[in-house]
Formats: sequence, structure tokens, C-alpha cells
Amino acid sequence: MSLATADFTFLRELVASQSGQWLAARHAAVLEQRLASVAGAVGLPSVTSLVQRLRRSDDADLSAQVAEAVTVNETSFFRDANVFETIAHRVLPKIIANNADRKHLRIWCAACSCGQEAYSMAMLLGEHFADLDDWDIRITASDLSQNMIRRAELGAFSELETARGLPPQKRLRYFDRHGTAWQAKPELRQRIQFHRINLLRPWPYLGPFDLVLLRNVLLYFDPPTKQDILKRLRGAMRPDGYLFIGAAETLIGLCVPYQRKEIDDTVHYRPAAI
Ligand SMILES: C[S@@+](CC[C@H](N)C(=O)[O-])C[C@H]1O[C@@H](n2cnc3c(N)ncnc32)[C@H](O)[C@@H]1O
Repeated sequence: MSLATADFTFLRELVASQSGQWLAARHAAVLEQRLASVAGAVGLPSVTSLVQRLRRSDDADLSAQVAEAVTVNETSFFRDANVFETIAHRVLPKIIANNADRKHLRIWCAACSCGQEAYSMAMLLGEHFADLDDWDIRITASDLSQNMIRRAELGAFSELETARGLPPQKRLRYFDRHGTAWQAKPELRQRIQFHRINLLRPWPYLGPFDLVLLRNVLLYFDPPTKQDILKRLRGAMRPDGYLFIGAAETLIGLCVPYQRKEIDDTVHYRPAAI
């Protein structure tokens, strides 16, 4: 590792305070590599000079860029297909029956990366619930990263990205080809509202949500941070709402107001009385 230990320690604390992610010592080389691009982009010759600038000044924008540079943005269309099957066939029909009087549906893809999860949800609604035309439906998609949100809003994906989980017939139906990229058609994009939201900080009230997908992000947080986010999230959900977290994540061991439920081979959580 060429990054000085003191610089790594400084960066680790900065990233944790910005995004909640705690970097292990083995991440030092990746950190240095990713921050070399940030340093270059702001005209600095090295990561060492980037650290010097961050130590000298309270530069909120630069600190955010550093945190964003080390986030893991791995995602794909219809990731964990069984979850989308459960949502389509077992969860949304219940929500729609419950909300039939007010014709209102709110879905939040929190930590959506560059948008595949939110577009998957929008396609799912188009396929299975096409007769909800007179409903007030909002899919909110958010992420910490400004770059990810910009990309998600654009809705343009490479051939390789669409090859990951997006069936060819859905690609043809919902996307337009632009050179080597596929862009979500305007009617798909307009079903989603994009926001930059850092889950560590208070977020604007956008609910109450019937369904929340908070997947593959909790694993980066320590238990007190998870608890804090999940308690605040409870306040943004309808009392009869549904929460899905990542397949490799669990709320076991956390003191949070949710009840674990299983449908077929999927797990979700329902708000518990506070
Ligand atoms: C691995 S991706 C998960 C994407 C998608 N939910 C999925 O499951 O495919 C994790 C995302 O969490 C975002 N993230 C990390 N820390 C965050 C925070 N404090 N607030 C909001 N988003 C955060 C990252 O920018 C990244 O896009």
C-alpha cells in the first residue's frame, strides 16, 4: 500500500461520515486507485495532495465526491427475479386491493444505483397492472451518488447492462436503441421520480410508501446506522406497507420495528406497532 496509514485513516473516517461505509484496511489499494481519478478531475497531481486539500478545507463537495467514488454500484435488471415475482403476484395485488378506494400507490427504490431496479419496477407495473391508468402512482428512486442519479434519470444502458436481467422482448418494448446504448422510452422514464438522498441524513418526506426496496446497501452500514435508517424508514411507510432488503441482508439482531415475513422463497418485512 502506498497510501500513508494516516491518510488512509483520515479517508476512512471521511467516507464513513459521508456515506456510512466503513472501509477495511484491505480496501486501501482500491481506495487509492479510485481517488486518483477524483484527484485528476479536480486538477491535483496525487491522492496525497487530495488528502492535503481535504485536511486544509471543509470542502463539502469534494468530500461527497470522495465518498461517492468508493461506493459499490453493482446492480442489474430484475435482480433476484424471485423477489419481483413475489411483488408482482403476491404483494402488489394486496396493496392494490387495499388502496382501491384512494387509487394511490407509492413505491420507493432507495439506493437505486443507476436505476435498473426502479425501471424493473416500472416495467413490472406496466406488464401486470396496465389497468391502473386512473391511479396516482409514483415510483421514487434515490441514491447517495449524484452521478448514479444522473445516469438513472437518463435511463440509458449499454448492451452489456441490458444483457444482465432484461429480457429481449421487454428491451424492445420499453427501450429505444441509440447507437450501442438502449434508452428507456419517455413513458417509462416519466413513471419514476429521481432524487439524490443520503440515507444517513434526514430525507424529505415523499411517502407514505406502500412498498420499499432497500436492497444491497444496509450491508455497508454498522448496526447503529442500520437501526437509525430503518427506524426513520418506518415513519415513511404505510403501517400496512412492505419492505424488501437484499437477499444477503438480514434485520436479525437489530432492534427495529419490523416483522419478518416469508412468501414462497422470499423474505420481506412489515412495519410493527411502535
Ligand atoms: C450495491 S448498490 C445496490 C443497488 C440496488 N438497490 C440493487 O440492489 O441492485 C448500493 C447503492 O447504495 C448507494 N449508497 C451507499 N451509501 C448510501 C447512502 N448513505 N445513502 C444512499 N445511498 C447509498 C450506492 O451509491 C450504491 O448505488
